[in-house]
Amino acid sequence: MKSTTGSRKGSNLSIFVVAFSIFLFGCFMYNEDVKSIAEFPFSRPKGGQEIQEEPSKNTNGIIQESDKNVGDQTTVSVVLNARTVVETEIETSDSDHDQKQESVILKDGKEKEEEQQKIELPAEDDDEIEEEEEEIELPPEDCDLFTGQWVFDNVTHPLYKEDECEFLTAQVTCMRNGRKDSLYQNWRWQPRDCSLPKFRPRLLLEKLRNKRLMFVGDSLNRNQWESMICFVQSVVPPERKSLNKSGSLSVFRIEDYNATVEFYWAPFLVESNSDDPNMHSILNRIIMPESIKKHGKNWKNVDFLIFNTYIWWMNTFAMKVLRGSFDEGATEYDEIARPVAYERVLRTWAKWVDKNINPNRTQVFFMSMSPLHIKSLDWENPDGIKCALETTPILNTSMPLNVGTDRRLFRVAVNITESMKVPVYFLNVTTLSEYRKDAHTSVHTIRQGKMLTPEQKADPANFADCIHWCLPGLPDTWNEFLYTHIISRSSHESPTL
Ligand SMILES: *[C@@H]1O[C@H](CO)[C@@H](O)[C@H](O)[C@H]1NC(C)=O
Ligand SMILES: *[C@@H]1O[C@H](CO)[C@@H](O)[C@H](O)[C@H]1NC(C)=O
Ligand SMILES: *[C@@H]1O[C@H](CO)[C@@H](O)[C@H](O)[C@H]1NC(C)=O
Ligand SMILES: *[C@@H]1O[C@H](CO)[C@@H](O)[C@H](O)[C@H]1NC(C)=O
Ligand SMILES: *[C@@H]1O[C@H](CO)[C@@H](O)[C@H](O)[C@H]1NC(C)=O
Ligand SMILES: *[C@@H]1O[C@H](CO)[C@@H](O)[C@H](O)[C@H]1NC(C)=O
Ligand SMILES: *[C@@H]1O[C@H](CO)[C@@H](O)[C@H](O)[C@H]1NC(C)=O
Repeated sequence: MKSTTGSRKGSNLSIFVVAFSIFLFGCFMYNEDVKSIAEFPFSRPKGGQEIQEEPSKNTNGIIQESDKNVGDQTTVSVVLNARTVVETEIETSDSDHDQKQESVILKDGKEKEEEQQKIELPAEDDDEIEEEEEEIELPPEDCDLFTGQWVFDNVTHPLYKEDECEFLTAQVTCMRNGRKDSLYQNWRWQPRDCSLPKFRPRLLLEKLRNKRLMFVGDSLNRNQWESMICFVQSVVPPERKSLNKSGSLSVFRIEDYNATVEFYWAPFLVESNSDDPNMHSILNRIIMPESIKKHGKNWKNVDFLIFNTYIWWMNTFAMKVLRGSFDEGATEYDEIARPVAYERVLRTWAKWVDKNINPNRTQVFFMSMSPLHIKSLDWENPDGIKCALETTPILNTSMPLNVGTDRRLFRVAVNITESMKVPVYFLNVTTLSEYRKDAHTSVHTIRQGKMLTPEQKADPANFADCIHWCLPGLPDTWNEFLYTHIISRSSHESPTL
Protein backbone atom coordinates (compact mmCIF):
# COMPACT_ATOMS: atom_id res chain seq x y z
CA MET A 1 0.00 0.00 0.00
CA LYS A 2 1.59 3.22 -1.10
CA SER A 3 0.47 6.75 -0.54
CA THR A 4 1.18 9.51 -3.01
CA THR A 5 3.10 11.81 -0.71
CA GLY A 6 4.81 11.49 2.60
CA SER A 7 2.74 12.96 5.39
CA ARG A 8 -0.94 13.32 4.89
CA LYS A 9 -2.81 15.17 7.51
CA GLY A 10 -6.12 14.61 9.22
CA SER A 11 -9.34 14.09 7.36
CA ASN A 12 -8.27 14.29 3.73
CA LEU A 13 -7.64 10.59 3.51
CA SER A 14 -8.55 9.43 0.09
CA ILE A 15 -11.59 7.23 -0.28
CA PHE A 16 -9.39 4.68 -1.90
CA VAL A 17 -7.15 4.32 1.08
CA VAL A 18 -10.09 4.00 3.43
CA ALA A 19 -11.74 1.46 1.19
CA PHE A 20 -8.56 -0.48 0.80
CA SER A 21 -7.86 -0.48 4.53
CA ILE A 22 -11.34 -1.77 5.08
CA PHE A 23 -10.77 -4.41 2.50
CA LEU A 24 -7.54 -5.49 4.11
CA PHE A 25 -9.00 -5.49 7.54
CA GLY A 26 -11.97 -7.37 6.18
CA CYS A 27 -9.63 -10.01 4.84
CA PHE A 28 -7.97 -10.22 8.19
CA MET A 29 -11.25 -10.48 10.04
CA TYR A 30 -12.36 -13.14 7.64
CA ASN A 31 -9.39 -15.24 8.43
CA GLU A 32 -9.61 -14.54 12.10
CA ASP A 33 -13.22 -15.60 12.14
CA VAL A 34 -12.63 -18.79 10.36
CA LYS A 35 -9.69 -19.46 12.58
CA SER A 36 -11.36 -18.61 15.79
CA ILE A 37 -13.91 -21.28 15.11
CA ALA A 38 -11.11 -23.64 15.67
CA GLU A 39 -9.46 -21.57 18.29
CA PHE A 40 -9.85 -23.67 21.36
CA PRO A 41 -7.61 -26.58 20.91
CA PHE A 42 -9.26 -28.53 23.67
CA SER A 43 -11.44 -31.48 23.37
CA ARG A 44 -14.00 -32.34 25.95
CA PRO A 45 -12.46 -33.92 29.01
CA LYS A 46 -12.28 -37.59 28.40
CA GLY A 47 -11.90 -38.77 31.91
CA GLY A 48 -11.83 -37.44 35.43
CA GLN A 49 -8.09 -37.72 35.65
CA GLU A 50 -7.51 -35.12 32.98
CA ILE A 51 -10.01 -32.52 34.02
CA GLN A 52 -7.55 -30.74 36.19
CA GLU A 53 -5.48 -29.61 33.26
CA GLU A 54 -8.25 -29.12 30.82
CA PRO A 55 -9.95 -25.85 30.28
CA SER A 56 -13.59 -26.75 30.23
CA LYS A 57 -14.79 -27.11 26.78
CA ASN A 58 -18.03 -27.62 25.01
CA THR A 59 -18.30 -30.16 22.29
CA ASN A 60 -19.67 -27.52 19.95
CA GLY A 61 -16.37 -25.71 20.09
CA ILE A 62 -14.78 -28.44 18.11
CA ILE A 63 -14.71 -28.12 14.41
CA GLN A 64 -15.51 -31.04 12.20
CA GLU A 65 -15.04 -31.35 8.48
CA SER A 66 -18.76 -30.93 7.99
CA ASP A 67 -18.79 -27.59 9.80
CA LYS A 68 -16.94 -25.95 6.98
CA ASN A 69 -20.06 -24.58 5.32
CA VAL A 70 -21.39 -23.27 8.55
CA GLY A 71 -18.10 -21.49 8.98
CA ASP A 72 -18.38 -19.81 5.62
CA GLN A 73 -21.87 -18.58 6.34
CA THR A 74 -20.79 -17.18 9.66
CA THR A 75 -18.01 -15.31 8.03
CA VAL A 76 -20.17 -13.29 5.71
CA SER A 77 -22.14 -11.62 8.45
CA VAL A 78 -19.13 -11.09 10.62
CA VAL A 79 -17.18 -9.48 7.86
CA LEU A 80 -20.06 -7.06 7.44
CA ASN A 81 -19.90 -6.28 11.12
CA ALA A 82 -16.18 -5.87 10.98
CA ARG A 83 -16.59 -3.44 8.14
CA THR A 84 -18.86 -1.18 10.14
CA VAL A 85 -16.53 -1.31 13.06
CA VAL A 86 -13.56 -0.42 10.94
CA GLU A 87 -15.29 2.49 9.30
CA THR A 88 -15.82 4.22 12.60
CA GLU A 89 -12.39 3.16 13.76
CA ILE A 90 -10.62 4.74 10.87
CA GLU A 91 -12.53 7.97 11.28
CA THR A 92 -11.68 8.36 14.92
CA SER A 93 -8.12 7.25 14.72
CA ASP A 94 -7.63 9.51 11.76
CA SER A 95 -8.96 12.68 13.33
CA ASP A 96 -7.22 11.93 16.59
CA HIS A 97 -4.01 11.26 14.87
CA ASP A 98 -2.15 14.49 15.44
CA GLN A 99 -3.40 14.92 18.96
CA LYS A 100 -2.41 11.42 19.84
CA GLN A 101 1.12 11.90 18.71
CA GLU A 102 1.46 15.05 20.72
CA SER A 103 0.26 13.45 23.86
CA VAL A 104 2.69 10.60 23.42
CA ILE A 105 5.52 13.05 23.12
CA LEU A 106 4.49 15.30 25.95
CA LYS A 107 4.58 12.57 28.53
CA ASP A 108 7.97 12.78 30.05
CA GLY A 109 10.00 10.25 31.94
CA LYS A 110 10.92 10.64 35.54
CA GLU A 111 14.63 10.17 35.72
CA LYS A 112 16.18 7.56 37.92
CA GLU A 113 19.32 8.06 39.94
CA GLU A 114 21.05 4.75 39.43
CA GLU A 115 24.00 4.45 37.12
CA GLN A 116 22.74 2.61 34.12
CA GLN A 117 23.53 2.14 30.51
CA LYS A 118 22.19 4.87 28.32
CA ILE A 119 21.44 5.11 24.68
CA GLU A 120 20.19 7.91 22.58
CA LEU A 121 17.52 7.90 19.96
CA PRO A 122 18.83 8.54 16.51
CA ALA A 123 17.91 11.92 15.10
CA GLU A 124 15.66 12.18 12.10
CA ASP A 125 14.24 14.80 9.80
CA ASP A 126 10.90 14.42 11.46
CA ASP A 127 9.87 17.28 13.79
CA GLU A 128 8.31 14.92 16.28
CA ILE A 129 11.44 12.93 16.77
CA GLU A 130 13.31 15.72 18.45
CA GLU A 131 11.12 15.72 21.50
CA GLU A 132 11.51 12.01 21.87
CA GLU A 133 15.24 12.41 21.85
CA GLU A 134 15.77 11.61 25.43
CA GLU A 135 17.96 9.12 27.07
CA ILE A 136 16.53 5.74 27.79
CA GLU A 137 17.85 3.79 30.68
CA LEU A 138 18.55 0.17 30.06
CA PRO A 139 18.59 -2.34 32.87
CA PRO A 140 21.97 -3.92 33.59
CA GLU A 141 22.47 -6.99 31.47
CA ASP A 142 22.61 -9.33 34.45
CA CYS A 143 19.37 -8.10 36.01
CA ASP A 144 16.72 -10.82 36.25
CA LEU A 145 13.74 -9.06 34.69
CA PHE A 146 11.34 -11.87 35.45
CA THR A 147 11.56 -11.78 39.22
CA GLY A 148 9.55 -8.94 40.64
CA GLN A 149 5.99 -7.86 41.21
CA TRP A 150 2.94 -6.34 39.60
CA VAL A 151 2.36 -2.72 40.53
CA PHE A 152 -0.69 -0.63 39.75
CA ASP A 153 0.33 2.18 37.39
CA ASN A 154 -2.40 3.91 35.46
CA VAL A 155 -0.01 6.66 34.36
CA THR A 156 2.20 4.57 32.11
CA HIS A 157 -0.13 1.62 31.46
CA PRO A 158 -1.76 0.62 29.21
CA LEU A 159 0.90 1.38 26.61
CA TYR A 160 -1.79 1.94 23.96
CA LYS A 161 -5.56 2.20 23.95
CA GLU A 162 -7.86 -0.53 22.77
CA ASP A 163 -9.74 1.89 20.53
CA GLU A 164 -6.60 3.28 18.97
CA CYS A 165 -5.33 0.00 17.59
CA GLU A 166 -7.59 -0.96 14.72
CA PHE A 167 -5.66 -4.16 14.12
CA LEU A 168 -6.86 -5.87 17.28
CA THR A 169 -9.22 -8.71 16.51
CA ALA A 170 -12.53 -9.19 18.25
CA GLN A 171 -11.02 -12.10 20.13
CA VAL A 172 -9.07 -9.77 22.41
CA THR A 173 -10.93 -6.44 22.58
CA CYS A 174 -12.48 -7.15 25.96
CA MET A 175 -13.78 -3.66 26.72
CA ARG A 176 -15.48 -3.35 23.37
CA ASN A 177 -16.89 -6.81 23.95
CA GLY A 178 -18.55 -5.70 27.15
CA ARG A 179 -16.04 -6.12 29.94
CA LYS A 180 -16.89 -3.60 32.67
CA ASP A 181 -13.72 -3.45 34.76
CA SER A 182 -10.64 -2.02 33.08
CA LEU A 183 -8.01 -2.11 35.81
CA TYR A 184 -6.46 -5.20 34.27
CA GLN A 185 -4.89 -2.78 31.76
CA ASN A 186 -3.10 -0.75 34.43
CA TRP A 187 -0.61 -3.21 35.87
CA ARG A 188 3.06 -2.74 35.22
CA TRP A 189 5.66 -5.43 35.84
CA GLN A 190 8.34 -4.15 38.19
CA PRO A 191 11.47 -6.29 38.28
CA ARG A 192 12.91 -6.56 41.78
CA ASP A 193 16.43 -5.36 41.04
CA CYS A 194 16.04 -2.94 38.13
CA SER A 195 13.40 -1.28 35.95
CA LEU A 196 12.11 -1.93 32.48
CA PRO A 197 12.96 0.90 30.10
CA LYS A 198 10.29 3.32 29.08
CA PHE A 199 8.47 2.18 25.99
CA ARG A 200 9.37 4.17 22.87
CA PRO A 201 7.74 2.83 19.72
CA ARG A 202 10.02 4.82 17.43
CA LEU A 203 13.09 3.40 19.09
CA LEU A 204 11.83 -0.12 18.51
CA LEU A 205 10.92 0.71 14.92
CA GLU A 206 14.41 2.05 14.41
CA LYS A 207 15.77 -1.33 15.49
CA LEU A 208 13.38 -3.05 13.12
CA ARG A 209 14.31 -0.91 10.12
CA ASN A 210 14.83 -3.10 7.04
CA LYS A 211 14.22 -6.13 9.22
CA ARG A 212 11.69 -8.85 9.81
CA LEU A 213 10.39 -9.86 13.20
CA MET A 214 8.37 -13.07 13.34
CA PHE A 215 6.37 -14.85 16.00
CA VAL A 216 6.14 -18.59 15.40
CA GLY A 217 3.77 -20.82 17.31
CA ASP A 218 0.20 -21.05 18.53
CA SER A 219 -2.67 -18.68 19.31
CA LEU A 220 -0.90 -17.34 22.40
CA ASN A 221 1.98 -16.24 20.25
CA ARG A 222 -0.60 -14.71 17.93
CA ASN A 223 -2.05 -12.92 20.94
CA GLN A 224 1.42 -11.46 21.54
CA TRP A 225 1.86 -10.64 17.86
CA GLU A 226 -1.32 -8.54 17.94
CA SER A 227 0.06 -6.72 20.95
CA MET A 228 3.34 -6.08 19.12
CA ILE A 229 1.47 -4.64 16.14
CA CYS A 230 -0.31 -2.22 18.47
CA PHE A 231 3.04 -1.32 20.04
CA VAL A 232 4.52 -0.12 16.80
CA GLN A 233 1.53 0.98 14.78
CA SER A 234 0.65 3.95 16.99
CA VAL A 235 3.39 6.08 15.44
CA VAL A 236 2.74 5.04 11.86
CA PRO A 237 0.18 7.03 9.84
CA PRO A 238 -2.80 5.05 8.55
CA GLU A 239 -1.78 4.68 4.93
CA ARG A 240 1.75 3.58 5.74
CA LYS A 241 0.93 0.24 7.33
CA SER A 242 -0.87 -2.86 6.18
CA LEU A 243 -1.78 -6.34 7.21
CA ASN A 244 -1.70 -9.25 4.81
CA LYS A 245 -2.63 -12.75 5.72
CA SER A 246 -2.00 -15.65 3.41
CA GLY A 247 -1.92 -19.24 4.56
CA SER A 248 0.10 -19.81 7.70
CA LEU A 249 1.78 -16.44 7.51
CA SER A 250 0.38 -13.05 8.50
CA VAL A 251 2.49 -10.01 7.74
CA PHE A 252 2.10 -6.57 9.23
CA ARG A 253 4.14 -4.14 7.17
CA ILE A 254 5.41 -0.72 8.15
CA GLU A 255 6.30 1.05 4.91
CA ASP A 256 8.48 3.88 6.12
CA TYR A 257 10.77 1.54 8.00
CA ASN A 258 10.63 -1.31 5.52
CA ALA A 259 9.91 -3.46 8.55
CA THR A 260 7.55 -6.34 9.14
CA VAL A 261 6.00 -7.88 12.23
CA GLU A 262 4.86 -11.35 11.27
CA PHE A 263 3.08 -14.35 12.68
CA TYR A 264 3.55 -17.91 11.48
CA TRP A 265 1.10 -20.56 12.61
CA ALA A 266 2.83 -23.76 13.79
CA PRO A 267 1.24 -24.82 17.08
CA PHE A 268 3.70 -27.68 17.67
CA LEU A 269 6.63 -26.04 15.81
CA VAL A 270 7.17 -29.40 14.11
CA GLU A 271 4.90 -30.79 11.43
CA SER A 272 1.51 -31.95 12.65
CA ASN A 273 -2.00 -32.57 11.40
CA SER A 274 -3.01 -29.26 13.04
CA ASP A 275 -0.99 -27.02 10.76
CA ASP A 276 -3.79 -25.75 8.60
CA PRO A 277 -4.20 -22.15 9.72
CA ASN A 278 -7.95 -22.23 9.24
CA MET A 279 -8.98 -25.77 9.97
CA HIS A 280 -6.63 -26.77 12.67
CA SER A 281 -8.82 -27.99 15.45
CA ILE A 282 -8.38 -31.64 14.91
CA LEU A 283 -9.52 -33.85 17.75
CA ASN A 284 -7.00 -36.50 17.10
CA ARG A 285 -3.80 -34.49 17.10
CA ILE A 286 -0.76 -36.21 15.68
CA ILE A 287 2.73 -34.82 15.39
CA MET A 288 5.91 -35.72 13.53
CA PRO A 289 8.50 -34.78 16.18
CA GLU A 290 11.50 -35.02 13.87
CA SER A 291 10.00 -33.09 10.98
CA ILE A 292 10.46 -29.34 10.92
CA LYS A 293 11.84 -28.38 7.51
CA LYS A 294 8.48 -27.65 5.95
CA HIS A 295 7.84 -24.93 8.49
CA GLY A 296 11.45 -23.99 8.98
CA LYS A 297 11.97 -22.83 5.43
CA ASN A 298 9.57 -19.98 6.21
CA TRP A 299 11.68 -18.84 9.15
CA LYS A 300 14.89 -18.29 7.26
CA ASN A 301 16.12 -14.76 6.67
CA VAL A 302 14.15 -13.41 9.59
CA ASP A 303 15.99 -11.08 11.97
CA PHE A 304 14.02 -11.66 15.16
CA LEU A 305 12.39 -15.05 15.72
CA ILE A 306 10.10 -15.59 18.72
CA PHE A 307 8.97 -19.17 19.26
CA ASN A 308 6.45 -20.81 21.57
CA THR A 309 4.59 -24.09 21.91
CA TYR A 310 2.51 -25.28 24.85
CA ILE A 311 -1.23 -25.03 24.83
CA TRP A 312 -1.80 -27.64 22.16
CA TRP A 313 0.04 -30.19 24.25
CA MET A 314 -2.35 -29.88 27.12
CA ASN A 315 -5.47 -31.76 26.15
CA THR A 316 -4.09 -35.25 26.60
CA PHE A 317 -1.45 -36.77 28.83
CA ALA A 318 0.10 -38.67 25.97
CA MET A 319 1.09 -37.25 22.62
CA LYS A 320 0.36 -39.08 19.40
CA VAL A 321 3.46 -39.50 17.31
CA LEU A 322 3.08 -40.54 13.70
CA ARG A 323 4.86 -43.62 12.39
CA GLY A 324 6.11 -42.42 9.05
CA SER A 325 5.02 -39.33 7.22
CA PHE A 326 1.71 -37.61 6.45
CA ASP A 327 2.93 -37.21 2.89
CA GLU A 328 3.21 -40.98 2.56
CA GLY A 329 -0.29 -41.36 3.91
CA ALA A 330 0.79 -42.85 7.22
CA THR A 331 -1.95 -43.02 9.83
CA GLU A 332 -0.53 -45.22 12.57
CA TYR A 333 0.91 -43.57 15.60
CA ASP A 334 2.43 -44.26 19.00
CA GLU A 335 1.35 -42.57 22.19
CA ILE A 336 4.24 -41.03 24.02
CA ALA A 337 4.32 -39.28 27.39
CA ARG A 338 3.92 -35.53 27.00
CA PRO A 339 7.30 -34.40 28.37
CA VAL A 340 9.13 -37.02 26.36
CA ALA A 341 7.46 -35.96 23.13
CA TYR A 342 7.95 -32.30 24.03
CA GLU A 343 11.65 -32.88 24.49
CA ARG A 344 11.90 -34.66 21.14
CA VAL A 345 10.20 -31.73 19.47
CA LEU A 346 12.35 -29.10 21.12
CA ARG A 347 15.50 -31.02 20.26
CA THR A 348 14.41 -31.07 16.64
CA TRP A 349 13.74 -27.35 16.84
CA ALA A 350 17.09 -26.66 18.53
CA LYS A 351 18.94 -28.63 15.89
CA TRP A 352 17.18 -26.68 13.18
CA VAL A 353 18.05 -23.35 14.82
CA ASP A 354 21.69 -24.31 15.36
CA LYS A 355 22.02 -25.41 11.76
CA ASN A 356 20.07 -22.66 10.01
CA ILE A 357 20.37 -19.51 12.06
CA ASN A 358 23.29 -17.15 11.80
CA PRO A 359 23.46 -15.54 15.21
CA ASN A 360 25.29 -12.59 13.71
CA ARG A 361 22.11 -11.72 11.93
CA THR A 362 19.23 -13.23 13.85
CA GLN A 363 18.17 -13.01 17.46
CA VAL A 364 16.20 -16.02 18.67
CA PHE A 365 13.69 -15.96 21.52
CA PHE A 366 11.66 -18.66 23.23
CA MET A 367 8.52 -17.80 25.19
CA SER A 368 7.94 -19.97 28.23
CA MET A 369 4.42 -21.28 28.66
CA SER A 370 1.41 -19.04 29.01
CA PRO A 371 -0.61 -20.32 31.99
CA LEU A 372 -4.35 -21.01 32.26
CA HIS A 373 -6.69 -20.10 35.11
CA ILE A 374 -9.37 -22.71 35.12
CA LYS A 375 -10.02 -23.45 38.78
CA SER A 376 -10.59 -20.53 41.12
CA LEU A 377 -9.72 -22.72 44.11
CA ASP A 378 -6.16 -22.65 42.83
CA TRP A 379 -6.01 -19.09 44.16
CA GLU A 380 -8.33 -19.78 47.03
CA ASN A 381 -11.45 -18.12 45.74
CA PRO A 382 -14.27 -20.52 46.52
CA ASP A 383 -16.81 -18.11 44.99
CA GLY A 384 -15.00 -17.78 41.68
CA ILE A 385 -16.06 -19.25 38.35
CA LYS A 386 -12.88 -20.16 36.49
CA CYS A 387 -11.20 -16.81 35.73
CA ALA A 388 -14.47 -15.01 35.03
CA LEU A 389 -14.95 -13.00 38.21
CA GLU A 390 -11.34 -11.99 38.74
CA THR A 391 -10.51 -8.29 38.59
CA THR A 392 -7.13 -8.10 40.33
CA PRO A 393 -3.87 -10.00 39.97
CA ILE A 394 -2.61 -12.25 42.72
CA LEU A 395 -0.46 -9.81 44.65
CA ASN A 396 0.80 -11.95 47.50
CA THR A 397 3.77 -13.52 45.80
CA SER A 398 4.85 -15.36 48.90
CA MET A 399 1.80 -17.56 48.59
CA PRO A 400 2.75 -20.72 46.74
CA LEU A 401 0.69 -20.84 43.57
CA ASN A 402 -0.18 -23.80 41.40
CA VAL A 403 -2.59 -23.17 38.56
CA GLY A 404 -1.83 -26.47 36.87
CA THR A 405 1.03 -25.42 34.60
CA ASP A 406 3.01 -28.43 33.41
CA ARG A 407 6.38 -27.44 34.81
CA ARG A 408 8.02 -30.51 33.34
CA LEU A 409 7.76 -28.86 29.93
CA PHE A 410 9.17 -25.66 31.39
CA ARG A 411 12.26 -27.50 32.59
CA VAL A 412 12.72 -29.17 29.23
CA ALA A 413 12.55 -25.79 27.50
CA VAL A 414 15.02 -24.18 29.92
CA ASN A 415 17.43 -27.04 29.57
CA ILE A 416 17.33 -27.19 25.81
CA THR A 417 17.52 -23.46 25.16
CA GLU A 418 20.54 -23.28 27.47
CA SER A 419 22.41 -26.03 25.67
CA MET A 420 22.24 -24.59 22.17
CA LYS A 421 25.02 -23.23 20.02
CA VAL A 422 22.92 -20.26 18.89
CA PRO A 423 22.14 -18.11 21.91
CA VAL A 424 18.41 -18.17 22.67
CA TYR A 425 16.86 -15.60 24.93
CA PHE A 426 14.42 -17.50 27.16
CA LEU A 427 11.52 -15.28 28.19
CA ASN A 428 10.55 -16.64 31.56
CA VAL A 429 7.02 -15.24 31.60
CA THR A 430 5.22 -18.21 33.15
CA THR A 431 5.32 -17.38 36.83
CA LEU A 432 4.61 -13.70 36.43
CA SER A 433 1.69 -14.54 34.15
CA GLU A 434 0.34 -17.05 36.65
CA TYR A 435 -0.41 -14.09 38.91
CA ARG A 436 -2.66 -12.57 36.24
CA LYS A 437 -5.91 -14.41 36.81
CA ASP A 438 -7.63 -11.10 36.01
CA ALA A 439 -6.23 -10.70 32.52
CA HIS A 440 -7.97 -13.38 30.43
CA THR A 441 -10.60 -12.67 27.81
CA SER A 442 -13.10 -14.79 29.74
CA VAL A 443 -16.58 -14.29 28.23
CA HIS A 444 -15.63 -11.06 26.50
CA THR A 445 -14.52 -12.71 23.34
CA ILE A 446 -15.64 -14.51 20.24
CA ARG A 447 -16.31 -18.16 19.74
CA GLN A 448 -16.71 -19.86 16.41
CA GLY A 449 -16.26 -16.47 14.81
CA LYS A 450 -19.13 -14.84 16.68
CA MET A 451 -19.36 -12.71 19.75
CA LEU A 452 -20.68 -14.74 22.66
CA THR A 453 -24.42 -14.29 23.03
CA PRO A 454 -25.79 -12.73 26.24
CA GLU A 455 -26.84 -16.22 27.30
CA GLN A 456 -23.34 -17.55 26.78
CA LYS A 457 -21.82 -14.56 28.56
CA ALA A 458 -24.05 -15.35 31.50
CA ASP A 459 -22.64 -18.86 31.64
CA PRO A 460 -18.92 -18.45 32.28
CA ALA A 461 -18.59 -21.92 33.72
CA ASN A 462 -19.06 -23.21 30.21
CA PHE A 463 -17.97 -20.32 28.03
CA ALA A 464 -15.19 -18.35 29.72
CA ASP A 465 -11.90 -18.42 27.83
CA CYS A 466 -9.23 -18.53 30.52
CA ILE A 467 -6.45 -19.23 28.05
CA HIS A 468 -6.17 -16.12 25.89
CA TRP A 469 -5.58 -12.58 27.13
CA CYS A 470 -7.29 -9.23 26.68
CA LEU A 471 -5.43 -6.50 24.81
CA PRO A 472 -4.17 -4.11 25.95
CA GLY A 473 -3.04 -6.44 28.70
CA LEU A 474 -0.60 -9.06 29.80
CA PRO A 475 1.03 -9.87 26.42
CA ASP A 476 2.11 -6.21 26.28
CA THR A 477 4.37 -6.98 29.24
CA TRP A 478 5.83 -9.96 27.40
CA ASN A 479 6.60 -7.57 24.58
CA GLU A 480 8.18 -5.10 26.99
CA PHE A 481 10.72 -7.83 27.73
CA LEU A 482 11.28 -8.39 24.03
CA TYR A 483 11.58 -4.66 23.50
CA THR A 484 14.10 -4.37 26.31
CA HIS A 485 16.22 -7.13 24.87
CA ILE A 486 16.04 -5.84 21.31
CA ILE A 487 16.99 -2.26 22.12
CA SER A 488 19.71 -3.40 24.53
CA ARG A 489 21.28 -5.90 22.21
CA SER A 490 21.45 -3.75 19.14
CA SER A 491 22.64 -0.68 21.01
CA HIS A 492 26.09 -2.12 21.45
CA GLU A 493 26.05 -3.92 18.12
CA SER A 494 28.49 -6.65 19.08
CA PRO A 495 26.99 -10.07 18.64
CA THR A 496 27.66 -12.57 21.38
CA LEU A 497 29.02 -15.74 19.95
C1 LIG B 1 11.52 -17.66 36.21
O1 LIG B 1 11.02 -16.56 36.92
C2 LIG B 1 10.55 -16.88 38.23
C3 LIG B 1 9.97 -15.63 38.85
O2 LIG B 1 9.03 -15.00 37.98
C4 LIG B 1 11.68 -17.42 39.05
O3 LIG B 1 11.22 -17.82 40.31
C5 LIG B 1 12.30 -18.63 38.35
O4 LIG B 1 13.43 -19.06 39.05
C6 LIG B 1 12.71 -18.28 36.94
N1 LIG B 1 13.16 -19.47 36.26
C7 LIG B 1 14.17 -19.46 35.40
C8 LIG B 1 14.54 -20.75 34.80
O5 LIG B 1 14.78 -18.45 35.11
C1 LIG C 1 -5.48 6.37 38.55
O1 LIG C 1 -5.76 5.70 39.74
C2 LIG C 1 -5.99 6.58 40.83
C3 LIG C 1 -6.08 5.73 42.09
O2 LIG C 1 -6.98 4.68 41.88
C4 LIG C 1 -7.24 7.42 40.56
O3 LIG C 1 -7.45 8.31 41.63
C5 LIG C 1 -7.04 8.20 39.27
O4 LIG C 1 -8.22 8.88 38.91
C6 LIG C 1 -6.64 7.24 38.14
N1 LIG C 1 -6.29 8.02 36.98
C7 LIG C 1 -6.69 7.69 35.77
C8 LIG C 1 -6.18 8.54 34.65
O5 LIG C 1 -7.44 6.75 35.57
C1 LIG D 1 13.71 -4.17 3.16
O1 LIG D 1 13.62 -5.24 4.09
C2 LIG D 1 13.92 -6.50 3.54
C3 LIG D 1 13.58 -7.56 4.57
O2 LIG D 1 14.23 -7.37 5.76
C4 LIG D 1 15.39 -6.52 3.12
O3 LIG D 1 15.72 -7.78 2.58
C5 LIG D 1 15.61 -5.42 2.09
O4 LIG D 1 16.98 -5.36 1.77
C6 LIG D 1 15.14 -4.08 2.62
N1 LIG D 1 15.17 -3.09 1.55
C7 LIG D 1 15.99 -2.04 1.58
C8 LIG D 1 15.85 -1.10 0.46
O5 LIG D 1 16.79 -1.87 2.50
C1 LIG E 1 -0.40 -10.84 0.37
O1 LIG E 1 0.64 -11.81 0.34
C2 LIG E 1 0.54 -12.75 -0.70
C3 LIG E 1 1.61 -13.81 -0.50
O2 LIG E 1 2.85 -13.23 -0.24
C4 LIG E 1 0.66 -12.02 -2.04
O3 LIG E 1 0.54 -12.94 -3.10
C5 LIG E 1 -0.45 -10.98 -2.12
O4 LIG E 1 -0.31 -10.23 -3.30
C6 LIG E 1 -0.41 -10.04 -0.94
N1 LIG E 1 -1.58 -9.16 -0.95
C7 LIG E 1 -1.50 -7.86 -0.76
C8 LIG E 1 -2.78 -7.12 -0.80
O5 LIG E 1 -0.44 -7.29 -0.55
C1 LIG F 1 29.93 -13.83 12.93
O1 LIG F 1 30.80 -12.70 12.99
C2 LIG F 1 32.09 -13.04 13.45
C3 LIG F 1 32.94 -11.78 13.63
O2 LIG F 1 32.36 -10.69 13.00
C4 LIG F 1 32.75 -14.00 12.46
O3 LIG F 1 34.03 -14.32 12.90
C5 LIG F 1 31.89 -15.24 12.36
O4 LIG F 1 32.42 -16.12 11.39
C6 LIG F 1 30.48 -14.90 12.00
N1 LIG F 1 29.67 -16.10 12.11
C7 LIG F 1 28.88 -16.53 11.14
C8 LIG F 1 28.13 -17.78 11.40
O5 LIG F 1 28.75 -15.92 10.09
C1 LIG G 1 0.69 -14.11 51.83
O1 LIG G 1 0.65 -15.52 51.80
C2 LIG G 1 1.35 -16.14 52.87
C3 LIG G 1 1.39 -17.64 52.63
O2 LIG G 1 0.12 -18.12 52.31
C4 LIG G 1 0.65 -15.75 54.19
O3 LIG G 1 1.33 -16.33 55.27
C5 LIG G 1 0.64 -14.24 54.33
O4 LIG G 1 -0.08 -13.87 55.46
C6 LIG G 1 0.05 -13.58 53.09
N1 LIG G 1 0.26 -12.16 53.18
C7 LIG G 1 -0.73 -11.29 52.99
C8 LIG G 1 -0.35 -9.85 53.07
O5 LIG G 1 -1.88 -11.63 52.77
C1 LIG H 1 19.15 -31.51 30.23
O1 LIG H 1 19.73 -31.86 28.99
C2 LIG H 1 20.79 -32.81 29.06
C3 LIG H 1 21.33 -33.02 27.67
O2 LIG H 1 21.52 -31.79 27.03
C4 LIG H 1 20.23 -34.09 29.63
O3 LIG H 1 21.28 -35.03 29.77
C5 LIG H 1 19.61 -33.82 31.00
O4 LIG H 1 19.01 -34.98 31.49
C6 LIG H 1 18.56 -32.74 30.87
N1 LIG H 1 18.04 -32.40 32.18
C7 LIG H 1 16.75 -32.21 32.40
C8 LIG H 1 16.38 -31.83 33.79
O5 LIG H 1 15.91 -32.29 31.52
